[in-house]
Amino acid sequence: MTSLVITVTETLRYRGAIGQWSWVLHRLSGLGVVLFLVLHVVDTSWAVFWPELYEEAIATYQSPLFTIGEFGLVAAVVYHAINGLRIVFFDYKPHLWRYQARAAKVVAVVTLIILAPVFLLMFGHVLDFYNSAPQVLPLTEVLRAQLVFLPGFIAAIVAALILSGLHGLISGGDGATGAVDPQGSRSERFWWSFMRVSSLLILPLVFGHLAVMHVLQGVFDITAQGHDVVGTGLINESGTAVEFVARRWNLLVGGVAVWRVYDFALLALVVAHGFNGLRYVLTDYTSHSPFLRRASVYLCMLGALTLLVLGVGALLGTIDETAVEMGVEAMERLHAGS
Ligand code: HEM
Ligand code: HEM
Repeated sequence: MTSLVITVTETLRYRGAIGQWSWVLHRLSGLGVVLFLVLHVVDTSWAVFWPELYEEAIATYQSPLFTIGEFGLVAAVVYHAINGLRIVFFDYKPHLWRYQARAAKVVAVVTLIILAPVFLLMFGHVLDFYNSAPQVLPLTEVLRAQLVFLPGFIAAIVAALILSGLHGLISGGDGATGAVDPQGSRSERFWWSFMRVSSLLILPLVFGHLAVMHVLQGVFDITAQGHDVVGTGLINESGTAVEFVARRWNLLVGGVAVWRVYDFALLALVVAHGFNGLRYVLTDYTSHSPFLRRASVYLCMLGALTLLVLGVGALLGTIDETAVEMGVEAMERLHAGS
């Protein structure tokens, strides 16, 4: 949060040219998507570990607040991706740097050209949903459902601060960690290349995922009874989000659970790219304090590890008939209360 505030206030103070604005937008869009990713991977894992809670999570995705957020999320992913391509291109063609400002404008135009039809289709899904007299969770319920994440965030920050303190004690004080060692710069070179290579692999995976969840169908269709489960040719008979995920993850093509493999690749790449990006941002704002700088690195490591364990755990798990029944009961309870 502090890093977001500093980024915005410093930019307003600086009033930079288009290059400065595109840097800020790239940073803010990356941070926004990381925040969503944390909530999303945790709640997707509930489809396996806590089906009732997964039903509630998807019901919150279908509330007006999240619908507005969904448009923002798609815009953030598209802008970040197109601008990321610009960064990668100029990193490998430094002699074309004088065209940077023009390229930033091209990024803005391409983003708008992609978003216009996508938003129209997404808006169509929203209209269809609200024309069908749906049951929607009240705002208070939607906000209350997000509270479960708060203890997790606090625990991660406290754990990162403790680990940084212990690290400082063991390595003999804060000053000792300030030195740059050749090992460190080698690993930074690795991460620099990783950010570029991973971004090119993430692009088709994330765009494919968003096309499946927002364009081919709407977020509302995840729980539409009797609706096709996108990408499977099967029907969601119970109309639960749990059955939707079960049908997708249990689909075998030539003996391979294709959607599990797809989600695994997506998970591994976006978690590594997103949390390393978060590390860049946090360490930018904590460079004055070795203690906070280390805590930022630990926070990113803990966050990435937690998401990988939960995400891979869910992908290896089983969603059976009992889980779907629990989903049905949760849906009934949710709608009885709304
Ligand atoms: C509101 C927007 C989104 C919706 C409705 C959505 C929906 C879903 C659903 C239903 C699943 C379950 C598996 C499946 O059916 O394939 C899933 C899994 C996943 N999604 Fe999304 N998604 C959204 C946006 C995103 C974005 C922007 C990212 C990446 C930044 C992402 C990354 C993932 C990952 C990594 C998994 C696998 C999670 C795991 O292993 O437990 N999703 N998503
Ligand atoms: C869709 C394809 C994507 C492309 C083409 C892309 C590209 C890039 C590039 C080139 C960078 C700069 C790396 C550096 O400075 O060394 C970057 C940074 C970043 N990316 Fe991505 N990225 C993509 C997806 C994502 C996703 C899904 C997330 C979140 C889960 C994300 C989060 C970040 C963050 C937080 C940064 C750091 C920003 C900063 O230092 O100001 N990116 N991205």
